[in-house]
Amino acid sequence: MPYPVTLIPGDGIGPEVASAARRAVDASGVSIEWEISELNAELILKTGQSLPQSVVDSLDRTRVGLKGPVATPIGGGFASVNVALRKRLDLYANVRPVHSLPGIASRFSDVTIDMVIFRENTEDLYSGIEHEVIPDVVTGIKVITRTASIRIAEYAFKFADQLGRKKVTAIHKANIMKLADGLFLRCCREVAARFPHIHYNELIVDNASMQLVMRPETFDILLLPNLYGDIVSDLAAGLVGGLGIVPGANMGDTHAVFEAVHGSAPDIAGKGIANPTAMMLSAVLMLTHLKELEAARRLQSAVEKVYASKKHTTGDVGGHASTEEFTDAVIAAMS
Ligand code: NAI
Repeated sequence: MPYPVTLIPGDGIGPEVASAARRAVDASGVSIEWEISELNAELILKTGQSLPQSVVDSLDRTRVGLKGPVATPIGGGFASVNVALRKRLDLYANVRPVHSLPGIASRFSDVTIDMVIFRENTEDLYSGIEHEVIPDVVTGIKVITRTASIRIAEYAFKFADQLGRKKVTAIHKANIMKLADGLFLRCCREVAARFPHIHYNELIVDNASMQLVMRPETFDILLLPNLYGDIVSDLAAGLVGGLGIVPGANMGDTHAVFEAVHGSAPDIAGKGIANPTAMMLSAVLMLTHLKELEAARRLQSAVEKVYASKKHTTGDVGGHASTEEFTDAVIAAMS
């Protein structure tokens, strides 16, 4: 029986990298019945629905999605559909593995970077509660709850426990946001106490940013509220070669939606040069979630082979290949 999966091409480079990832998954030996669901800025503007019901219905049927990026207007316009989707399906854990790939020359190529970011995905300043009190005075509400903080901490520690990871670092700004980030930290400490064999430490987010750049190899599991998790994810991507290669998963108790860390990259959209690695590695996370471990391993090792050979890589990581050429090379490496 093929697995039903919702494929959301999205905006900008989304359709290009989604189609590349689909081809690679289909060549990995697994049978997927793709249900294509459109979700992009044009559709949202046309229908006036910030989260079209058709997308939610499809994900309710399949329970698993592979999603391209969707653009969000800056400083006005409709609210982020990405945030809306995560809240609507209660995809509370944003999991982003950040690994060095062979053959990529980054500033940090002499060290092995192997960290996993666990970002709380449903609240914090992403509550979208903003208010203009009087002209030129605006407040935004940072929401931190015990429920959401405990469950992301449990998710991170359980993952660390199952995979034999050694250390969890909670990242915060509780010296300033004593109540909000203070609550987040108390929840992390409470969960950490249940896993005494896993080393637990805490870093203030500004110091953590510096340490990540100075000593990225010392980080293992990172546990963060929503906003810091978003920012630190892009910083971490920069350590291993950029946004083109870092995958992600939005996990809930009933649904899972896999997507790259990167956005719609309007500056390179339609040129056929986007790097589909992040989307392909998101598909590897999806195959692992579906327990298709052999297909996941084949796709992961094919991507690594292409990087190790230093041929057929895209411009963002120093190569010259198009999206299509990279994808052909990955598929060839699987056969
Ligand atoms: P971005 O991630 O789209 O691009 C940042 C830089 O990285 C650009 O120079 C881009 O060309 C490059 N880049 C990103 N992905 C790449 C890839 N696969 N291959 C090669 N180069 C790549 O971030 P930006 O420009 O801040 O955001 C653009 C739009 O994407 C915004 O509307 C934003 O709201 C949206 N966005 C959507 C996300 C999602 O759907 N989950 C996540 C992040 C941003």
